[in-house]
Amino acid sequence: MNPLIERLVRPEIQGLTAYQVPDATGLIKLDAMENPYVWPEDLHREWLERLKDVQVNRYPDPRASALQVVLRESMGIPEKAGLLLGNGSDELIQMLALTVAGSGRKVVSLDPGFVMYRMIGLFAGMEYRGVPLRPPDFSLDLPAVLAAVEQEQPGLTFIAYPNNPTGNLFEAEAVERIVAASPGLVILDEAYAPFTDASFLLRVGEWPNLLVMRTVSKMGLAGLRLGFLAGPTEWLDEVDKTRLPYNINVLTQVSAAFALRHRPVFDEQTRRIRGERERLFAALAGLVGVEPYPSQANFILLRVPAGSAGAVFDGLKTGGVLVKNLDGAHPSLADCLRVTVGRPEENDAFLEALRAAL
Ligand SMILES: Cc1ncc(COP(=O)(O)O)c(C=O)c1O
Repeated sequence: MNPLIERLVRPEIQGLTAYQVPDATGLIKLDAMENPYVWPEDLHREWLERLKDVQVNRYPDPRASALQVVLRESMGIPEKAGLLLGNGSDELIQMLALTVAGSGRKVVSLDPGFVMYRMIGLFAGMEYRGVPLRPPDFSLDLPAVLAAVEQEQPGLTFIAYPNNPTGNLFEAEAVERIVAASPGLVILDEAYAPFTDASFLLRVGEWPNLLVMRTVSKMGLAGLRLGFLAGPTEWLDEVDKTRLPYNINVLTQVSAAFALRHRPVFDEQTRRIRGERERLFAALAGLVGVEPYPSQANFILLRVPAGSAGAVFDGLKTGGVLVKNLDGAHPSLADCLRVTVGRPEENDAFLEALRAAL
């Protein structure tokens, strides 16, 4: 290695590999929890018409005020809650970490969970403590989480609700206990909110340290990169100081506001995905050697026969379907794959390829 790089680049960064996104060309893409549906033609036309007026020579509205109004309305964000927007929720995680990072500051979360809590914590120089979920159903081990919170005194505790990559939803009462016991901020990451009826969004303000994080990615706007944090304004005002100016670009501001004014279109797509999730789950449960885990999200975690995940993943790819291979990502994910719920014909193609690959 270049000796200057070796000397200057932080050792923990040298030890990483950059975020990898596999090439999905020519494949049915069921690896990234995207909404598989495109917009109806008339809506698409109207959107393009709207974009004609956008001035890309100007910086965007730094606060995305018009978008904030639409977001509050369409997402039902409580009036008294503060609101902070990010370039995807990933950026919000980064802003949170930059806000509280400092010597000895810790991040606590649940493992297996969303990897960016750990990664971004590491980028910001924070220590990460993952509390293992309980086998065999990935349920939350409340005494273990409370003990970790007591021991680590974390500045940030992230809970994905429902969880990625396991798809399950933790008990609301356990979440309440963690929030009440935490000395720092608890961020309830509701990225998969469109696919479950459970949410803490309306309860923001009940605790001084609870923030609810959402994204528009999973409802069908992943390409726009927009997430938000709702919570006490005194906290969000501090986090806002770490936000880069103009973090929400002008095309995203206009397009997301436009899309959210047509929320029923996306709700209908979400309803179809939820229906397909149940059909896919039943089909997977009927396959010998396959163990699917119940999901409240738009993906299903499944376990295949011991030692076969790599071959099944390759077989699916040969059959034209890309999923996520989680074998090796965490000890409790041995032999596990994660499939995003697609359109009916995509799910059928996945099931057919899976039968052939098993
Ligand atoms: C739990 C969870 N939070 C956040 C994200 C990132 O969302 P965004 O696209 O808004 O950055 C993901 C993406 O997969 C996720 O699974």
